[in-house]
Amino acid sequence: MDLPIRPRRNRKSPGLRALARETLLSPGDFVLPLFLHDVEADEAIESMPGCTRWSLEGIVKEAGEALAVGVPAVVLFPAIDDSLKTKRGEESFNPGGLVQRAIRALKSAYPELVVMTDVALDPYNIDGHDGILEGGEILNDETVEILCQQAVSQAEAGADIIAPSDMMDGRVAALRGALDTAGYQKVSICSYTAKYASAYYGPFRGALGTAPKSGDKKSYQMDPSNRREALRELLLDEDEGADIVMVKPAGAYLDIISDVREHTTLPVAAYQVSGEYLMIKSASAGGWINEESVMMESLIAIKRAGADMILTYFAKDAARLLGR
Ligand code: PBG
Repeated sequence: MDLPIRPRRNRKSPGLRALARETLLSPGDFVLPLFLHDVEADEAIESMPGCTRWSLEGIVKEAGEALAVGVPAVVLFPAIDDSLKTKRGEESFNPGGLVQRAIRALKSAYPELVVMTDVALDPYNIDGHDGILEGGEILNDETVEILCQQAVSQAEAGADIIAPSDMMDGRVAALRGALDTAGYQKVSICSYTAKYASAYYGPFRGALGTAPKSGDKKSYQMDPSNRREALRELLLDEDEGADIVMVKPAGAYLDIISDVREHTTLPVAAYQVSGEYLMIKSASAGGWINEESVMMESLIAIKRAGADMILTYFAKDAARLLGR
């Protein structure tokens, strides 16, 4: 063939492929989500192989291992005892609450560790919703007031980044105001900007016992059919003072990550959620796919789409592999 242009020339050896590579992952891209409970023993989570509900002691050790392989950050998700759950989720701002104690323990063991916390009521809410449920409705403004108290108490405990995952309207501005008023100007907000009402969260809710008792989350989380709406949420979050904007889930929403990347100068985060993790874990446990290869490919795809940082249950494994 008379072909002057042959793209395969750039793929002809490992060296050339390395030179031409457009996207690189590094351990510094990852945030490791950690589950915790108020029990002395660590407990393997059956519905999420490879994940654990950590005790306070266990979580400190696990975060130390993540740091040791180069993962700079963790995000905390508590399993709260049913006896502490209420309509309004007041346990969320208990200064001696589980998350608050964990933040203190982590920051005193590793001051350099970036500790991110989830802001939403679902772990604390008797109805299993991210906001206050009344008369079949999730109350927006009343919920935001509680979220502000939750965020301030997490900041007081030493959280570096507050990550509201509740999808209430106006919460980023309200949180920024509440944090600043309380003297926490340095605490960042990573907003779950485009969080979709996704069936991929199923295993996570199982792990924490936070599945909604009635209804679903479609009146506050976004419709998976919508793309432009993500940009509307982005504009609002930027105006309201978000420092980082997040898309969630990640793998099935690469178009959204790419749109958000194109329309903002802020760092973009993406959350590879429990269902995405489990699909890879279970297919590889069955021997049908290669776990390491698919794990790395899924993470590269998320970064290539435009994410600067990735929340992933694979954080430690992927970081270890990259460090080899
Ligand atoms: C709750 C929250 C959820 C996740 C993170 N924060 C679940 C939900 O919205 O129902 C899901 C994470 C995952 O599936 O890995 N605010």
